[in-house]
Amino acid sequence: MKFLLFSLTGIILGSAALPNQDEALAKSIERGKTVYTETCITCHMGAGEGVPATFPPLAKADYLVKTPEKAIEAVKFGLQGKIVVNGVSYEGMMPNPGLDNEEIADVMNYIQNAWGNTSNKKMITAKMVEEVKQKK
Ligand code: HEC
Repeated sequence: MKFLLFSLTGIILGSAALPNQDEALAKSIERGKTVYTETCITCHMGAGEGVPATFPPLAKADYLVKTPEKAIEAVKFGLQGKIVVNGVSYEGMMPNPGLDNEEIADVMNYIQNAWGNTSNKKMITAKMVEEVKQKK
């Protein structure tokens, strides 16, 4: 009986947690949009299309989908050196945007869910950003 009660509570709490997570993600995306407009749009452009051979795209970017941790690292510390995005090489320099972990999580959630991109409802949190360290 105790077990049944526990499982029932689990089901009820579990299903209640889902809309909350969706709502938290929606709010983070909304805040991230503002961060994007203020901090990233000058290089990565309004539709995340970037600038050919200069600034890599974020829309439909395999780099973002395949290596989200490296994308967080870029936003957290800046990025320099050769990278390949959708088969095109870039060897540019992205300055450290100087955002806090919360803002980085928000802007990541925005770019992962804008312009046809989808994170499949997975949310990046400030804690996940905190855990990403710079690789030398
Ligand atoms: C001054 C121009 C500039 C700004 C501003 C800028 N970036 Fe970048 N970004 C770059 C360049 C250049 C690269 C590629 C660096 C390289 O070649 O190593 C890059 C790479 C990236 C990458 C990895 C490659 C890819 O296309 O997925 C991500 C993710 C990214 N930027 C996100 C952002 C976000 C989010 C912001 C705003 C917080 C931002 N950038 C602001 C110039 C910029």
